[in-house]
Amino acid sequence: MRVFHTPPEWHTLRPSGTVGFVPTMGALHEGHLALVKTALAQCEHAVASIYVNPTQFNNPDDFAKYPSTFDADCQMLKASGCQFVFAPTFETLYPDGYRYRVTETETSTLLEGAHRPGHFDGVLTVVLKLFNCIQADAAFFGEKDFQQLLLVKEMAEALHHPTQVIPCPTVREPDGLAMSSRNRRLTPAQRALAAQWATILADLTLSCDEATQKLEALDFTVDYVAEHWGRRLGAVHTPPLDGGGPVVRLIDNVAL
Ligand code: PAF
Repeated sequence: MRVFHTPPEWHTLRPSGTVGFVPTMGALHEGHLALVKTALAQCEHAVASIYVNPTQFNNPDDFAKYPSTFDADCQMLKASGCQFVFAPTFETLYPDGYRYRVTETETSTLLEGAHRPGHFDGVLTVVLKLFNCIQADAAFFGEKDFQQLLLVKEMAEALHHPTQVIPCPTVREPDGLAMSSRNRRLTPAQRALAAQWATILADLTLSCDEATQKLEALDFTVDYVAEHWGRRLGAVHTPPLDGGGPVVRLIDNVAL
């Protein structure tokens, strides 16, 4: 597996044949590896990027605490058959210092966008930069971040980007919790409670209001439980259990 840091390096490394791209912020788990597996099933070569993108964090504390596990990530990618890893710096990706950015004006104002101002500007801008650097045939995104997936797909179509955006199903723990890099910040008590969050969100016999009430009764702080785009989507903050464990924000969605 080859690790490269700049677009000119990729120009010399790029193999002939189809390329599937898996953008990540590292702290990899089985969900990311499933994206690599799908990329390798559909394309001859897989390239993953590992870059914790500061412009999509509206909360500086969240950015500072984002797990960084580069060496372990590379080992997992190598074992999964991924052939290339793009690990750029801020200076490489943002020669403009983020003066140029991609803004969507409708879908991005709802749900995650309403609770995380500027988040989707950061996501769309970095994804377009990564797409332009890699020029892959297809890029693979998990359905867990459903609003992100929708926006990236629409952006690629709106801006006539040749990379095809492929949705991939959410990978879950045996108790139903969606895999996420943030799960590793949960204390054991928060982790046990997080399984109930997944169960309540997926229980479509409840209305969105009833689901919210049930979650609040368990001391979650609910940002939203709402239905859009044929999905029920939700975001919560875990209570600080275990004598003041960190508050961790969890998002998830299910098909209606
Ligand atoms: O989903 C993520 O991990 C990030 O939002 C992405 C797509 C890698 C952009 O930084």
